[in-house]
Amino acid sequence: MAKKQLNVGLIGYGFMGRTHSNAYRNVNAFFDPEYQPVLKTVCGLVEGEAKAFADNWGYESHCTDWRQVIDDKNIDMVDICVPNNVHSEIALAAAAAGKAILCEKPLALNVAQAEEMAKAVEDAGVANMVSFNYRRVPAVTLAKRLIEEGRLGKIFHYRGQFLQDWTISSNVPQGGMATWRLDVKAAGSGVIGDLLAHSIDTAMWHNGPITKVNALTETFIKERMHAETGKVEPVGIDDACTFFCRFGNGSLGNFESTRYARGHKALFTFEINGENASIAWDLHDLHRLSWFDHNDEGKLRGWRSIHVSDHGGEQPYMENWWVPGLQIGYAESFVHQIADFLEGMAKGELAAPTFRDAVETQKVCDAVLESGKTGQWVDVG
Ligand SMILES: NC(=O)c1ccc[n+]([C@@H]2O[C@H](COP(=O)([O-])OP(=O)(O)OC[C@H]3O[C@@H](n4cnc5c(N)ncnc54)[C@H](O)[C@@H]3O)[C@@H](O)[C@H]2O)c1
Repeated sequence: MAKKQLNVGLIGYGFMGRTHSNAYRNVNAFFDPEYQPVLKTVCGLVEGEAKAFADNWGYESHCTDWRQVIDDKNIDMVDICVPNNVHSEIALAAAAAGKAILCEKPLALNVAQAEEMAKAVEDAGVANMVSFNYRRVPAVTLAKRLIEEGRLGKIFHYRGQFLQDWTISSNVPQGGMATWRLDVKAAGSGVIGDLLAHSIDTAMWHNGPITKVNALTETFIKERMHAETGKVEPVGIDDACTFFCRFGNGSLGNFESTRYARGHKALFTFEINGENASIAWDLHDLHRLSWFDHNDEGKLRGWRSIHVSDHGGEQPYMENWWVPGLQIGYAESFVHQIADFLEGMAKGELAAPTFRDAVETQKVCDAVLESGKTGQWVDVG
């Protein structure tokens, strides 16, 4: 069957611009959505860089003003891969123009912005999704299925970590490409919105709503040079955050994130302990899911390491890739994300996580930030 063309306007050609472009280029080779994404235009701040990106990835055109993408009647879908402070303005304009929207995480700088964005896409009736891509790592998706099947029984604990070490030097500036993450005006928060948002999204997807939080945050380096002004300015982000929480199902959560864990580049992990079984996962070994089942025969009982690469429809997404035993990686989580987004569009259904789902994650992020400042327990929402 002839594919329907879906003209994509990508805004932001940095790290995420690359992962999303790679996904658009590969999705139809491995999955079979009704839509064929067409790389129409890419937008970013520097003309020469936008052109080079367009040439490299095969975009038909490039520009430096995102409003041009919104005004272009030929663009069906807007993909927002810019720093967090620009998400809202672009998403509101794209919704008003009737475009489908994929927005990078965190959805917004705060709950008020996120709510406004969710309302805008709902009022406009446009397809929308937030790029919490780790949900679509096959082992993470398999964990969700095992929980839904009730195999863990009652869940007692959810433990999550996201550890990095790239801002330990005081020479790292705030502001600018990639380092906008250290500028509170551009990022909204530090590790809370950048890293813990992933942990929180995954945790609530697996284990239901988080109802209250108690956080400890720290900014280890108080002043940094700002890349745009050249001046040394106060740092407004959290460099590290640890928080405890309660889930609606009665289980306890324990999360930690930092950019000061020397030796860790992206140690994203979770462990879930239930009455009958436990699950653990580690991004550094992303195709493996660790599984302990108390119902196993006593003499064989122990942690197994499931290599999530099998066929037969039991292990998510893997049927579409290579032969059993051969794994896929980080980039493919974005291919799955686009495949599911396009499938949702074809069916007239929204693929999760929607903007509305991401509002819930934003509520927890805001509560963690507030608790970090006050030292008090904060009810979510
Ligand atoms: N899903 C994930 O795992 C993941 C990973 C990294 C980043 N992110 C998110 O993706 C977004 C982008 O992060 P990144 O790492 O790709 O950033 P980056 O610094 O690598 O790239 C940012 C891009 O935005 C462009 N840009 C900035 N302001 C703009 C404006 N006003 N108009 C047009 N273009 C503008 C820049 O030219 C650049 O191309 C952020 O929201 C971030 O939180 C998500």
